[in-house]
Amino acid sequence: TGCFTYDPGFTSTANCTSRITYIDGDAGVLLYRGYPIDQLAEHSSFLEVCYLLLNGELPTKEQFDTFRMTITRHTMLHEQMTRFFTGFRRDAHPMAVMVGTVGALAAFYHDSTDINDQEQRAVASYRMLAKMPTIASMAYKYSIGQPFIYPRNDLDFTTNFLQMCFAIPCEPFIANPVLTRALDRIFILHADHEQNASTSTVRLAGSSGANPFACIAAGIACLWGPAHGGANEAALNMLMEIGSVDRIPEYIAKAKDKNSGFRLMGFGHRVYKNYDPRAKVMQKTCHEVLDALGLHNDPLLKVAMELERIALQDDYFIEKKLYPNIDFYSGITLRALGFPVSMFTVLFAIARTVGWIAQWKEMIEDPEQRIGRPRQLYMGSKERNYVPVDQRG
Ligand code: CMC
Repeated sequence: TGCFTYDPGFTSTANCTSRITYIDGDAGVLLYRGYPIDQLAEHSSFLEVCYLLLNGELPTKEQFDTFRMTITRHTMLHEQMTRFFTGFRRDAHPMAVMVGTVGALAAFYHDSTDINDQEQRAVASYRMLAKMPTIASMAYKYSIGQPFIYPRNDLDFTTNFLQMCFAIPCEPFIANPVLTRALDRIFILHADHEQNASTSTVRLAGSSGANPFACIAAGIACLWGPAHGGANEAALNMLMEIGSVDRIPEYIAKAKDKNSGFRLMGFGHRVYKNYDPRAKVMQKTCHEVLDALGLHNDPLLKVAMELERIALQDDYFIEKKLYPNIDFYSGITLRALGFPVSMFTVLFAIARTVGWIAQWKEMIEDPEQRIGRPRQLYMGSKERNYVPVDQRG
């Protein structure tokens, strides 16, 4: 009963209008505010892309300088926040730590609760963007038992993040520009992807008027799953499990067998029925990083390339239009950059934060937006009377 459509997984329901990101899944096209992803990855920087996603236009030099200084001003965490990290077990998954600590920011910034104030919305956005790398690096440092490294505002966004992760107090930190550029590009590729599961989660949480930091924590929780952001971790684990090229056919057969419960991680996408345009840039970046580090004979790269070649010629993958997605090559690249597997989805979260914020802001400013409230098809019992326990059969 009722006038609504049954649409599990929202495969055909648009919940909002948006001007931020455009995807043509059949043609393999991705545009941020109209700009093709490959052009942005080649010529722009992550922080400039943040400005673009949040404001709709590329910044002038003055606008960019002001934006960069604003973000820089907010990179430090309240010192009390450091105690949240030490409350976690050392072997906690960093995504669990991220959900908790980002959610805790809501307790530090009461002013952000006034989401109807444009100025407060802007400040909350800057804080979120600026503090995310600091929180992520602290989650990492805590997990390996090293001291927290504070942000350095003389460095650009990505170099600063790398130094917070890899610097140690007893040695100077020397950035490798090829690796920094690669991570910056990875951040650009992950910055937004219209109404994916985590972004829809942020919008749904935000539609009730909830505190923006709490909404982003909800997005991080959703991103964690292996069908979404957790796929980069799962893809690398899969490549390591396969281990050598001769075992690939076994895994292809397993992926085609519905009863196995196994899928090729880093393959397939709800929207892309063609090569994921981000995966193309990712593959190129992966080669650049491995070359720069003298790792071009990495056995996992060989397994990945051969797996892709075999899958793309296989009828099962051709018929279902399953192509490598962004996560297929990102794991190998991030591992080469020095990150442990458990940090991969955290890096995705750092990058996607700007997309979440831009979409949250767009939703709050949209006069048509109402609280998100999906309907259901009720399949349970008809009305019946309560039976006292001693009379139940
Ligand atoms: N390996 C083997 N078979 C697959 C795969 C795969 N990776 N992906 C989809 N299929 C099959 C699936 O079994 C189904 O077959 P059938 O029609 O016979 O039942 C068909 O293809 C369609 O799959 P679906 O699950 O209905 O498609 P979906 O749009 O609901 O799911 C997906 C999309 C990305 C969750 C899925 O392709 C998948 O699980 N891929 C592996 C995980 C992954 O790489 N996720 C990262 C996505 S990109 C980054 C991000 O969004 O965070």
